[in-house]
Amino acid sequence: MFNKRTRFKLEGRGLVVTFLLVLAMSQHSFAQDSNEIERKVDSVLSLMTLKEKIGQLVLYNGSWDVTGPPSDVGNKEKYEKLKNGEVGAMLNVTSVKGAKELQEKVIENSRLKIPLMFGYDVIHGYKTMFPIPLAESASWDLDAIKKSAAIAAKEATAAGINWAFGPMVDISRDARWGRIMEGAGEDPYLGSKIAVARIQGFQGTDLASKETLAACAKHFAAYGFAEAGRDYNTVNIGEYELHNTVLPPFKAAADAGVATMMSAFNEVNGIPATAHKELQRDILKDTWKWDGFVVSDWASIMEMTFHGYSKDRVHAAEQAIIAGNDMDMEGRAYEIGLEKLVKEGKVDVKLIEDAAKRILRTKFRLGLFEDPYKYCDENREKNDIYTKAHLEASRDVAKKSIVLLKNENNVLPLKKELKSVAVIGALADDKDTPIGSWRGVAESNSAVSLLEGLKASLGKKTTINYAKGVAIGSGERSFIKALKINRDDVTGIKEAVAAAKKSELVILAIGEEAYQSGEARSQVSLSITAPQQKMFEAIYEVNKNIVVVLMNGRPLAIPTIAEKVPAIVETWHLGSESGNAIADVLTGAYNPSGKLPVSFPRHVGQMPLYYATKTTGRPSNPDGMVFWSHYTDEKNDALFPFGYGLSYTTFEYKDLVLSASSFGTGGKITATVTVTNTGDRKGKEVVQLYVRDLIGSLTRPIKELKGFEMIELNPKESKKVTFTIDEKMLQFYTPNKKWEAEAGDFKVFVGGNSVDVLESDFVFKK
Ligand code: NOJ
Repeated sequence: MFNKRTRFKLEGRGLVVTFLLVLAMSQHSFAQDSNEIERKVDSVLSLMTLKEKIGQLVLYNGSWDVTGPPSDVGNKEKYEKLKNGEVGAMLNVTSVKGAKELQEKVIENSRLKIPLMFGYDVIHGYKTMFPIPLAESASWDLDAIKKSAAIAAKEATAAGINWAFGPMVDISRDARWGRIMEGAGEDPYLGSKIAVARIQGFQGTDLASKETLAACAKHFAAYGFAEAGRDYNTVNIGEYELHNTVLPPFKAAADAGVATMMSAFNEVNGIPATAHKELQRDILKDTWKWDGFVVSDWASIMEMTFHGYSKDRVHAAEQAIIAGNDMDMEGRAYEIGLEKLVKEGKVDVKLIEDAAKRILRTKFRLGLFEDPYKYCDENREKNDIYTKAHLEASRDVAKKSIVLLKNENNVLPLKKELKSVAVIGALADDKDTPIGSWRGVAESNSAVSLLEGLKASLGKKTTINYAKGVAIGSGERSFIKALKINRDDVTGIKEAVAAAKKSELVILAIGEEAYQSGEARSQVSLSITAPQQKMFEAIYEVNKNIVVVLMNGRPLAIPTIAEKVPAIVETWHLGSESGNAIADVLTGAYNPSGKLPVSFPRHVGQMPLYYATKTTGRPSNPDGMVFWSHYTDEKNDALFPFGYGLSYTTFEYKDLVLSASSFGTGGKITATVTVTNTGDRKGKEVVQLYVRDLIGSLTRPIKELKGFEMIELNPKESKKVTFTIDEKMLQFYTPNKKWEAEAGDFKVFVGGNSVDVLESDFVFKK
């Protein structure tokens, strides 16, 4: 048994064995004492050969799942390397049996028996699917988000996994980018809060618990700023945009103790992120003092040869390790290059040791040295995955993620007296699309469809007339293969029109298939497909009483539909319980409370679109002249702005009062607003606070979210909501290369979205 004073300074083979045996028997919680962990890390490191140190830096794919172009290492070779202690971690191993088998190869054969980590893309659930991350972000409900991550961790750890490749904390303002579905949207403040909630959910308060796992904030950095929204594309980004918009969620993740980060595929201003020393070694490790490890993205070290940045894999290995990229995912660059590079004096062995130490530290924190098989519990695998309680939790988050975009004449919630309703659209009867992209080990077609949800909740008095209408996609649905989107077939419209004709109301499910968004799923169009649009027009001819249920992984541009129909409900891809959650909202069993975490455009040509823009030198056209910053064929603003979302009740904002009109360093003021539920139903509202710095040493955005609070009000009830404004809230990354607040005039805005706000002014003095 170890105690705090125990020091490992063991030399020689016999002692190694003793050391590991004692470790295995120890009951001590290794996660508790970081000094002690450091001592152990040093001790293990002192026993390792260069080859073994490099081995820790190698991450291989298992043969169960593939989430990138497979490398050329065969299973036989992998097994040999595992036995020799030349692999630090595996990914895409999704069963206790698989994890055990591989862990055994290491523990029973390798010299030092350093346990493997097992990583997997746990993005919005493991088998119980929660809403896709963008959707879940629309809940603005940090507790619910944390809970869904905790359940995902519980399920994944029950299947042998101890490392989630999530959360993706990339800010994205371009809906063409398919991976916008994986993040928290466009805003660095909201994005930071959600990043922390997800990390806390994954990692819990004790990383060594059997039900928590190491999180991975990705993709470091600026991946969401790919030019023209094309995945993996070049990123050119200014220093200030990088610091003020892209890096904050990563900083929040680092401060929250995220165990790992993943570097990004893209280049950043000419240097691949994988080998970006300023980002990884200088900012992340030196300035932020973060002590976790950085894993490359899939083969991204090797891919620097394609970027035209590295001559070959050996050169790529040199650049990546010097930059601070600790682990090589499926790139085979470190295993091929590092030993040689050390011998040639091109890479200081200390860099390899630092990387190995970071990985060992994480393994100690996970408690893997204590018990390498702690996540290999067949009972848990049988009992802790896809449980009733998890599905209930999924339904709960799902209904909170729905955003009511339009509801004229209170078409919704559906009237109890409704005798007939047409449910139209292939997506309405689709049990697969709601599972979304990045679906862990979810079974295909396992979600509750909208049709099923409605059938279960509408009762016998309402007749449902279902028509599939036009198909959206065709061909095999898979993460790996490209989905064929059906852009021509309009057969099916006739049947849809007939159903609409004979029904009092139409529920029209339109949008995108599961795999239209996600990795490598960029699009130039943000419209629904032409056959869907045509179907809508035809239905509208015969029945104008239409509730559009949007299902999509990205913001869509639906200006004509939005103008014509009385009601629109944004339901994203909501996971396993999708249909039930949508029915909860449509029937009014749940009063919608979601708010958009990303602006919805009028047209794809507005991309990138976000609320926190700058004014430009020509913000308006008072004389009706053409020379101002605008489009000649479309409005500038969003169709539905950031922070927007309706309820079945209404909220009135009144009396924004500041406690003082100025404050100085170390001081603070409060902003209080009175919110009243002016409707006749109980409802939740996300009260949002925005700030604007009027004149800065750098131009400042017209509004920046700096706080929010969710409140629940009974009909006619009022509540005062108070936000504290302090110096920290006013800080930004300035030309002095640090975060600071500048003295001057500020505006503060409070409201239920980023556009409809009350405003006031204050002065910050220094
Ligand atoms: C590539 C993706 O960019 C990354 O997010 C993911 O974690 C890895 N593949 C592993 O699947």
